[in-house]
Amino acid sequence: MQILQVKNLRKYFTVGMLKKYTIKALDDVSFDINQGEIFAVLGESGCGKSTLGLVLSRIEKETAGEIFFKERKISGSTKLDFDTRRQIQIIFQNPYESFDQRLCIYDSLVIPLRINKIGDSDSQRKEIMKTFLHRAGLEPAESFFNRFPHELSGGQLQRISLLRAMMLNPSFLIADECVSMLDLSVRASVINLMLDLIESEKTTVMFITHDISLAKYVSDQIAVLYLGKIVEMGRSVDVVQRPLHPYTKVLISYTPSIFEKKNKIKPKELMSLFQPEVGCNFVNRCPYSDDKCQQERPQLRELEPGHWVSCHKV
Ligand SMILES: Nc1ncnc2c1ncn2[C@@H]1O[C@H](COP(=O)(O)OP(=O)(O)O)[C@@H](O)[C@H]1O
Ligand SMILES: [Mg+2]
Repeated sequence: MQILQVKNLRKYFTVGMLKKYTIKALDDVSFDINQGEIFAVLGESGCGKSTLGLVLSRIEKETAGEIFFKERKISGSTKLDFDTRRQIQIIFQNPYESFDQRLCIYDSLVIPLRINKIGDSDSQRKEIMKTFLHRAGLEPAESFFNRFPHELSGGQLQRISLLRAMMLNPSFLIADECVSMLDLSVRASVINLMLDLIESEKTTVMFITHDISLAKYVSDQIAVLYLGKIVEMGRSVDVVQRPLHPYTKVLISYTPSIFEKKNKIKPKELMSLFQPEVGCNFVNRCPYSDDKCQQERPQLRELEPGHWVSCHKV
């Protein structure tokens, strides 16, 4: 069963002072996420990943398109009913920015529990918090309660931001580059905690990352985003082992491996902010592009069962 359906989603930003420019951060994006699966959204900086997270969590409103959560339409307004607001949680890249610096950890955790009427009393809520801190290996739990965000390490605080979201028992978690700021050794502890918590709660996750090896490690499905469009989508093993789109191939060829020396596929240019007027978005960087790619925009096609790609060359 699908928990989330996204249909022709667009989010445009107008920038510039005298001359106005339109950035198509999301341009006609459609996909479904099945209940209980981890859906990775992959792409380099500026391709629209965070915008997608913000629009789905209703922090930002879409320019056009529809979003259905558990078969109910949530697009059209950023207002959500009380329970849906609890069910959709988002965690961000920088934990120091996602906590109020003036609140100690106890208050940062107890307030969302109170608002969402989880636990009958504060002493019961304290027990819930202790159980979660224990699961995250943050012990003794009491020693964290009266500390402030700046008194914790990035890894500790990110684990607490994950707990804060998961204590509300969400059915859909959006994790936006949740380990990108952390040291490699600390990343595993946060990822494993996330996998442990979502497994026991059967939470569906949208895992936003620029790291293809991490996407493959955690996710069931991958959607590769390029300049606001999905260029490839499918089961993670298919996308990583048999990438079809040149952009996915470029990403994979630049993923470091300690086991093999890879021939890197060189993109021609850096990514621009703006889409070309006609043709494929990737045309100026693509090592394989030809005239058709310059003139005609490729559509997303299902080339193998469940494996979608938008490229004229495959
Ligand atoms: N509030 C905003 N106003 C104007 N442009 C924005 C805004 N938010 C994002 N953008 C632009 O939209 C594009 C996608 O940004 P973002 O979703 O943050 O990308 P990512 O998370 O993949 O790095 C970028 O070109 C960015 O500059
Ligand atoms: Mg981002």
